[in-house]
Amino acid sequence: MMFDIEKIREEFPILHREVYGKPLVYLDSGATAQKPRQVIDTVDYLYRGLNSNIHRGVHFLSEQATELYEEARERIAAFIGAAEKEEIVFTAGATASLNTVAYAWGDAFVGAGDNILVSEMEHHSNIVPWQLLAERRGAGIRVLPFDEAGALRMDLLPELVDERTRVVAVTQASNTLGTRPDLRPVVEAAHAVGAVVVVDGCQGVVHGGVNVREMDCDFYAFSGHKLYGPTGIGVLYGKRDLLEKMPPFLGGGDMVDTVTFKKTTYAPVPLKFEAGTANFVGAIGLGEAVKFVQQFDAAEVEAHEEALLRRATERLTAIDGLRIFGTAPGKCAIVSFNVEGVHPYDMGMILDKLGIAVRTGQHCAEPVMDHYATTGMCRASFALYNTLSEADALAAGVERAVRMLRN
Ligand code: ALA
Repeated sequence: MMFDIEKIREEFPILHREVYGKPLVYLDSGATAQKPRQVIDTVDYLYRGLNSNIHRGVHFLSEQATELYEEARERIAAFIGAAEKEEIVFTAGATASLNTVAYAWGDAFVGAGDNILVSEMEHHSNIVPWQLLAERRGAGIRVLPFDEAGALRMDLLPELVDERTRVVAVTQASNTLGTRPDLRPVVEAAHAVGAVVVVDGCQGVVHGGVNVREMDCDFYAFSGHKLYGPTGIGVLYGKRDLLEKMPPFLGGGDMVDTVTFKKTTYAPVPLKFEAGTANFVGAIGLGEAVKFVQQFDAAEVEAHEEALLRRATERLTAIDGLRIFGTAPGKCAIVSFNVEGVHPYDMGMILDKLGIAVRTGQHCAEPVMDHYATTGMCRASFALYNTLSEADALAAGVERAVRMLRN
């Protein structure tokens, strides 16, 4: 499909609503993206016409639902460049994916005296699970810092990664700074000492996509709802041999082979990690979201998002006292900012009254706030359905808020 922004917007019913009598300008897609009709219709159809538990019935509905669930797995595997569909585990979201690795792989392979390297720009969900693991196992946490522009200090890898490093946890794209670090040196340094690389792909998979085999990461996590899919569904990609070696995390139905009181054996991957009734509606809905994204030329989407980023950056930087956090080259369309003398919450509330939705606060990345010695920021995060006039509306809204708050 040609990248026609007006046609694309037609696919998103919510973009046509008003808030406070103003047209909605939705610039909070980094928190959750809006859903195209085909995802909404699929979810609606699944509940109306196909609802039935998967992997459990021989009846028509169950078989159909199972087939669609496994088709979604296959589509997602191809979309992220996994070698095989068995490397795709459906989870409740990126947080669940990252915790699964930290508990299942971490408890088995991280011990006292080992260390875990975490980048300073991680979302809390790629920090706290590692801190919990470190506490459980007596391991240490090391931090890979970023510079003032928001670029990771790759030059420090040689001193931070050593033979006791077991895990390197890093983002593909920062949810606050928009930085998309070149992960090659991270992967090289980690693999040279036998550590695994765990990548948070929440924003990266949306802004630019991924090929996990080219990236050569060991684990990759993302959520469905930021990729135009339903909430409550996420993906954990893991290299097959690692998933095979990793013990299960949650026990229950569907993840077992046989259960006796003497000994229980587990289902093969990925089902070993999918205990309980799977969120098949979410998974199939996510498969549909991937189909939606795949109809566009990725380069056209990237060019559109770059144009949005450029316009928002130019217009915002022209505002007196405004500072953008995160200016590393190649960043994605996420713009966090503050205006001198203006509290980000006040800014967010005035923008809201103008119909403009941005995120305010710490963005679940408190270390990033600490780095810049601030308690919070405003963040505009763009998606493929945003327009240049929305970037202009943001800048005009910020100017207006500054006038109101400074007088
Ligand atoms: N992680 C989401 C964000 O960045 C919620 O807003």
